[in-house]
Amino acid sequence: MTYPSTQQAIVVNDAENGVTVATVPVPELNAGEVLVRVAYASQNPTDWKHVQYIAAAGDRLGCDFAGVVASSTDPGVKIGDRVAGWVHGGKYKDKGAFAQYVTTDAKLVWHVPDSLPLDQAATFTAPFLTAVQTLIQTQHRPWPPASEGGWIFIYGGSSGVGLFAIQVAKLQGYKVVTVASPHNFDLVKSYGADEVFDYHDAKAAVDNVRRVTGGGVAVALDTISLPESQAISVQTFGEGGGQLNVILGIDAAAAALRPDVKFVYTLLYTWFGKELDYRRRGSDTAAIIPASKADYEWHVESLRRLADLVSKHGVRAPPLVIRGGLEDIAAGLDEMRAGKVSGQRLVYKIGE
Ligand SMILES: NC(=O)c1ccc[n+]([C@@H]2O[C@H](COP(=O)([O-])OP(=O)(O)OC[C@H]3O[C@@H](n4cnc5c(N)ncnc54)[C@H](OP(=O)(O)O)[C@@H]3O)[C@@H](O)[C@H]2O)c1
Repeated sequence: MTYPSTQQAIVVNDAENGVTVATVPVPELNAGEVLVRVAYASQNPTDWKHVQYIAAAGDRLGCDFAGVVASSTDPGVKIGDRVAGWVHGGKYKDKGAFAQYVTTDAKLVWHVPDSLPLDQAATFTAPFLTAVQTLIQTQHRPWPPASEGGWIFIYGGSSGVGLFAIQVAKLQGYKVVTVASPHNFDLVKSYGADEVFDYHDAKAAVDNVRRVTGGGVAVALDTISLPESQAISVQTFGEGGGQLNVILGIDAAAAALRPDVKFVYTLLYTWFGKELDYRRRGSDTAAIIPASKADYEWHVESLRRLADLVSKHGVRAPPLVIRGGLEDIAAGLDEMRAGKVSGQRLVYKIGE
């Protein structure tokens, strides 16, 4: 397949929260990589957060993509294959899914089953992998399908991570109790939640979770992970304590509420298996996260299993709304930053 030497892509600029559609080179293909012509890209909260706190001017943006392979150096991935994946957008000058073409490690794309449209496939990778990292890797649980039983509490069931976490937890045999806004109760139930309560009344939410679970849970995932959500989540645990997974930094005040609950914080970027300097923009102090070969292997293995989870076990995409192309992304980032995206993913149609 022929492809051009330049392309249109979203690039971070110098203005506060500024992004621009710019003409940039199509990245060179290194050994072991594939070049994907992006059909759809899906927006994650980390995109606006990288623009605000991490990215430098000139960095490309966007993580989740789905498209068609335009060039490959790996015999396992062929030109024309329908694939999806994610990259660490907002950090590098040559990596970003909000672009007509993206390069990535050939082992870090998954083959999209014919039954799954590419717009839906674009919404999977980062939130699905976060569910796997939290519910399987760090909880030391078996891969689905499994029949572990018991209750799990998932804070924020209507989030992208939450909707995948509910599905993974159900396939692991858990009964799922979650919290969401009332307008998303039917949504989370349709993805498998057994019980759902409104988090806006924190005390009632905690009381209700403890009641339906017969005294509290031993396993929980907080997909929102703000101080107030961590405080609610930790109070849903029963007498024996257990493990609470969080995906933003651990809140010390929440952790102090229940010393018998182990807080585990994970960052999906470690799954690229490379050393990462995760310092904030403008900071002189490096924030080095060391490379982890084990995490890279989890990444590869999780993607290897994903097509089966979709086609044989019915794991499905969150509700999505399709926007126009790259020129619509700045508005979508503003919308998500303002907390106006509820129970759905914003997906951009980039190419054919
Ligand atoms: N550590 C990691 O590796 C990692 C990976 C992925 C995501 N994250 C982080 O995890 C968070 C969720 O990501 P996502 O992609 O799942 O987000 P998302 O889909 O954009 O989340 C939107 C949902 O969040 C809910 N929500 C927003 N504020 C809330 C609050 N204060 N309390 C309860 N629910 C609230 C809303 O629920 P209702 O409308 O029902 O109220 C809304 O449906 C983000 O902060 C993201 O940056 C971290």
